[in-house]
Amino acid sequence: MNQGYKKYIPFNPVKLPDRKWPNVVVKKAPIWCSVDLRDGNQALIDPMNLEEKLMFFKMLIEVGFKEIEVGFPSASETEYEILRTLIDRNLIPDDVTIQVLVQAREHLIRKTFEAIKGAKNVIVHFYNSTSTLQRKVVFKKDMDGIIDIAVQGARLIKQLTDEIAGDDINIRYEYSPESFSGTEMDNAVEICARVMEELGATKENKIILNLPSTVQLSTPNCFADQVEYFCRNLPNREAAIISVHPHNDRGTGIADAELAMMAGAERVEGTLFGNGERTGNVDIVALGLNLYTQGVDPELDFSDINHLKEIYENCTKMKIPERQPYVGELVFTAFSGSHQDAINKGVQYMHDTDSPYWEVPYLPIDPSDVGRQYEPIIRINSQSGKGGAAFIMQQNFGYNLPKAMHPEFGRVVKAEADRLGTELTAQNIFDLFSREFIYKRDPFTLKKHKIEEAGVNGNSVTRFDGSVFNGKEEVPIYGEGNGPIDAFFNALHHIGVENYQFVSYHEHAIGKGSHAKAVAYIELKAPDGKNYFGVGIHDNINIASIKGVISAINRAIDAMKK
Ligand code: KIV
Ligand code: ZN
Repeated sequence: MNQGYKKYIPFNPVKLPDRKWPNVVVKKAPIWCSVDLRDGNQALIDPMNLEEKLMFFKMLIEVGFKEIEVGFPSASETEYEILRTLIDRNLIPDDVTIQVLVQAREHLIRKTFEAIKGAKNVIVHFYNSTSTLQRKVVFKKDMDGIIDIAVQGARLIKQLTDEIAGDDINIRYEYSPESFSGTEMDNAVEICARVMEELGATKENKIILNLPSTVQLSTPNCFADQVEYFCRNLPNREAAIISVHPHNDRGTGIADAELAMMAGAERVEGTLFGNGERTGNVDIVALGLNLYTQGVDPELDFSDINHLKEIYENCTKMKIPERQPYVGELVFTAFSGSHQDAINKGVQYMHDTDSPYWEVPYLPIDPSDVGRQYEPIIRINSQSGKGGAAFIMQQNFGYNLPKAMHPEFGRVVKAEADRLGTELTAQNIFDLFSREFIYKRDPFTLKKHKIEEAGVNGNSVTRFDGSVFNGKEEVPIYGEGNGPIDAFFNALHHIGVENYQFVSYHEHAIGKGSHAKAVAYIELKAPDGKNYFGVGIHDNINIASIKGVISAINRAIDAMKK
């Protein structure tokens, strides 16, 4: 890159050697403010139309946001109309505060106050840019000039509030020193303190001071130092709610917000899935679910994340990437065999121990908590391990394959994935299992059966009396033994099916109530010295076992032919 890096000026961190934030653990959700309809919307190629904004607004309410920045009503007629529609159609619940953004400029502030008439709870959010760079190249003003803009704005806002004091409207204030992270901290403190004074902020009537990393300029620890420095040095600190508004230029918007909360931020502004200018605003879904997976109630409801994704994608025409935390199509999918195995063991462990905690490796969150299914957790392709397919059978279809069967089933699945050259769906796996292990009907099928238990000299004997089809004809068979499987084995000897040894037997019920059936997994050692599994299903466990024996023999015969 031809030494182009030399033209960049490194970030100059604030000095805070006795920083406290690294030892803080966040145990409570911040106040959330969605800026989807303003910062998110202004960054869209096609900004949302009225209908889309209303739909999005409704979704934000359902998620549980109590503060929603609905737009910049003085910026355009469309923005103005949208705000009026929300107010005139009575679409804002009483416990929700709408927020409107305005630059600290007289005519825009006046227009904003017109736009909010009739609303119940409003945050008037005004801002001006304070950064060293913007002062130098955009405003060509010194800090006093910048402070003056903010103070004049605050004065007018206070005056307009007093004028409508009799109306049934509750107005709160928010001030943003835009580009806070590029501002000298003492200047940021001073301008905010002056605004607070002008607005008469008190402990009872707090102002929101919103500290944006309008453009990310540093590592998140430097941003956290700035927030802690600001909180420690702000006069009348208790009269302010400290809010942050991270963007994501360096890809660390979430870290900025999380570390800023440790450093004293009580409120976070961001968007669902991180839409917003350039690389976006901080992603509130990820922030909330990060808290959730630390055992902290996020106070937002993401239990149907696919629904949020659908509305988001429809309204913004943006596409959520496959690997986006918590929501991407692939985030609950394990491709690696060892991961699949560990997930399988984690789920089994939770089942066996009744653990009240989520203790599944490779899955930091229970997919069902966000309305995602277990079904797509594991994708089976030729790289998948032996446990993955068994896991699908257990999770999706209720079949608990014995451990010893996993490698054999895994080989069958891998061969199929290789043959098809694609990954297998859960249904593919189930069909393969049925075809290979349950309905393996060549050459033998059970035709008739009668099983009786009789007592002989004080011992019980089981008799099998029935017939099998051997590929050519139906032949009667009869045998006795110490149980149904033994009796059936002995019956098969009479038609020349010999040299199979019984190795293991597992069974469980499948389905519920009157629809329940028995599933039997039979493992036999075949004349070639190898072990083969067969599976039988029937209302009667004895018949299920016999069907499992036949299936195992058929599989062995098939394998020995190859
Ligand atoms: O990113 C930013 O600084 C903003 C302000 C207007 C709050 O969006
Ligand atoms: Zn922003």
